[in-house]
Amino acid sequence: PPALRVPEADDVAGWWPRLHAGSEKYNRGVVGIATGSHTYPGAAVLSTAGALAGPTGMVRYAGTARAEVLAAHPSVVAADSVAGSGRVQAWLCGSGIGTDASARTALRGVLATDLPVVLDADALGMLVDGSEADRLRDRDAPLIITPHDREFARLAGEPGPDRVAAALKLASWMNAVVLLKGDRTIVAAPDGTAWANPTGTPALATGGTGDVLAGLLASLLAAGVEATRAAVSAAYLHGLAGRIAAERGPVTAADVALALREAVASTVP
Ligand code: APR
Ligand code: MG
Repeated sequence: PPALRVPEADDVAGWWPRLHAGSEKYNRGVVGIATGSHTYPGAAVLSTAGALAGPTGMVRYAGTARAEVLAAHPSVVAADSVAGSGRVQAWLCGSGIGTDASARTALRGVLATDLPVVLDADALGMLVDGSEADRLRDRDAPLIITPHDREFARLAGEPGPDRVAAALKLASWMNAVVLLKGDRTIVAAPDGTAWANPTGTPALATGGTGDVLAGLLASLLAAGVEATRAAVSAAYLHGLAGRIAAERGPVTAADVALALREAVASTVP
């Protein structure tokens, strides 16, 4: 069986982009977030919160939850659609976006770019339901998918007892980095490498924490971090943030987003 690697704080620190005198908001990377809906505006707020804890210099939001996102995060630049958004270096699409016509347009728009893309939640459902999966084959840029078990099962069948093998198989088949969420999150790459996340806590088992993770991951990608490293780093820091938040009492996804800053500060010297 392939070696299962476990990242350490030093790995994550080494991969995290550093500020320097020449840092500027655009050269730090701009991340695009196409998430949330009228039904689930919170997913947009939480995924942008995750992105704001990442290394990019700017977060752009595209979608129908603009008012809620801007109320929560005044530093976000918002547009009504992916097509109407300014330049970004990576996109997140999915979390809480729904499956209506505007959600499909957003997914199509994101997949039509030559940029790294993270697909989460509803975007994965739309891949299965629609013709969008065909568009994946034409892409050269990195793709990362972030399924929980039910989302994984719709794409590839139940992961079964050997979650590493299942994630590697899907990664190879889709030519994507697969971040399979769970009590021990697995990151599987199409080149056959696999990582198991050592941080994390059952306190993360609360609505919306996956949205925070997806936003952070997209920010790392937009900042230029290689896809597998970005996924391993995001899972590591998200798990650590869950632990930090849990020391204070019952955890909400917003608590995890706030604690991400401390997780980054304590991991990246
Ligand atoms: N131990 C450690 N970590 C856990 C545990 C556990 N027992 N349970 C869950 N987690 C972590 C996962 O690893 C993941 O990082 O919590 C996060 C949960 O993410 P999601 O499953 O995506 O949950 P959520 O954010 O609520 O998703 C919102 O969108 O994905 C859809 O169907 C999903 O309705 C849900 C919504
Ligand atoms: Mg989710």
